[in-house]
Amino acid sequence: MPSITVEPCTFALFGALGDLALRKLFPALYQLDGAGLLHEDTRVIALAREPGSEQEHLAFIASELRRYVGAELDEAVVERFLSRLSYLHVDFLKADDYVALAEMAGSAQRVIAYFATPAAVYGAICENLSKVGLAENTRVVLEKPIGSDLESSRKVNDAVAQFFPENRTYRIDHYLGKETVQNLIALRFANSLFETQWNQNYISHVEITVAEKVGIEGRWGYFDKAGQLRDMIQNHLLQLLCLIAMDPPADLSADSIRDEKVKVLKALAPISPEGLTTQVVRGQYIAGYSEGKPVPGYLEEPNSNTQSDTETFVALRADIRNWRWAGVPFYLRTGKRMPQKLSQIVIHFKEPSHYIFAPEQRLQISNKLIIRLQPDEGISLRVMTKEQGLDKGMQLRSGPLQLNFSDTWRSARIPDAYERLLLEVMRGNQNLFVRKDEIEAAWKWCDQLIAGWKKSGDAPKPYAAGSWGPMSSIALITRDGRSWYGDI
Ligand code: BG6
Repeated sequence: MPSITVEPCTFALFGALGDLALRKLFPALYQLDGAGLLHEDTRVIALAREPGSEQEHLAFIASELRRYVGAELDEAVVERFLSRLSYLHVDFLKADDYVALAEMAGSAQRVIAYFATPAAVYGAICENLSKVGLAENTRVVLEKPIGSDLESSRKVNDAVAQFFPENRTYRIDHYLGKETVQNLIALRFANSLFETQWNQNYISHVEITVAEKVGIEGRWGYFDKAGQLRDMIQNHLLQLLCLIAMDPPADLSADSIRDEKVKVLKALAPISPEGLTTQVVRGQYIAGYSEGKPVPGYLEEPNSNTQSDTETFVALRADIRNWRWAGVPFYLRTGKRMPQKLSQIVIHFKEPSHYIFAPEQRLQISNKLIIRLQPDEGISLRVMTKEQGLDKGMQLRSGPLQLNFSDTWRSARIPDAYERLLLEVMRGNQNLFVRKDEIEAAWKWCDQLIAGWKKSGDAPKPYAAGSWGPMSSIALITRDGRSWYGDI
């Protein structure tokens, strides 16, 4: 039996027939049900604006659920989950359509309204929930992207804030729900070995790579307006950077953690116009190969606009202006159509202060902490040891001290990020959600890059699908006398 208790709720999922709901949210709710983490009185209402009968939509949701849960499916759990589920046709902009939702929610003590819809309608949904008396005990969950720059994100946040206070507003960044991302806090603050070394005295630089093998998977309409900076850096990579760079919070409360993260975002050095060419690389994939098969370039994807200069790759060097990180660059890199799916953070420690080994071995002397977020979640610490053998002398080699999460805790399934996040919303814990001022500080930093790109008019650099990005992303780091770890 689970050791935590979760209160009953009515979970109203707006945009229930969309890709995110079908691929991630229903399967996550199903898994929570299977793990005994949905209260028996919890109900799920799927809301969408597509015409069609309730029966037809529920059957579709059920078949998609079976498809996405796949091999782990337990029919008994599916049946139980489906018995909680109902469907409501709603025009999100029409207040009258919400009356039925209010009736269905009835006397539920807690309503959770999850917006898996475009952010442009968040304000209207909030207003309509309030009109039918559903603002009082409701927590609202906002999917990213919240806006496309500081100004538009403020508009969305302000529209929501008219009806829902910050302590009932949950902004999703699904990376914060990943088990290994949460582990960053344990790793840093529960191990004095690391915490004492976690600063510019001992760390030379940090790499954060979030590479995806896929292209844009039919999401041209959305992606082309966003690009990789807005889609990945503004949220996921900056959140990872915050968790690595933040000072120890006073405690584990949501606000203590978020206060520290905001400080990091505010300490990010703006990138100068010259820095835009030396410190930042934008790329766009051209045709190439993925898993040995030819794949089209970004401009040849279905429904594409052949003139687009949207970036599908960004690499940059970020500097944090505070005592802890002075002189320690953070190299961030993320792209679509890379050779493999890989999210990884590499902490490079400095060389020992006094060097006594053969000069030709010097280059490899530095400890590295490799935190693998996905796939094959785990941690590996590269340490220097002596090669064994009578004929070896004091020849050094770098070897791993390894902790692979799935091998070490075989019985424990690694939950999907959305399972954790939905559970935390139900428990009222805002730890893993992004506060308004965090989102805004992240936008502020990204806006200056976007403005700089616009002003320069430079097109993104091409890179072949299946490669690690444009050559200039290698120059970006080698210019500082370093290289991307492993490449990879
Ligand atoms: C989403 C982006 O937020 O994250 C997608 O919009 C991206 O473009 C996805 O593919 C990556 O998430 P994950 O969990 O697969 O690394």
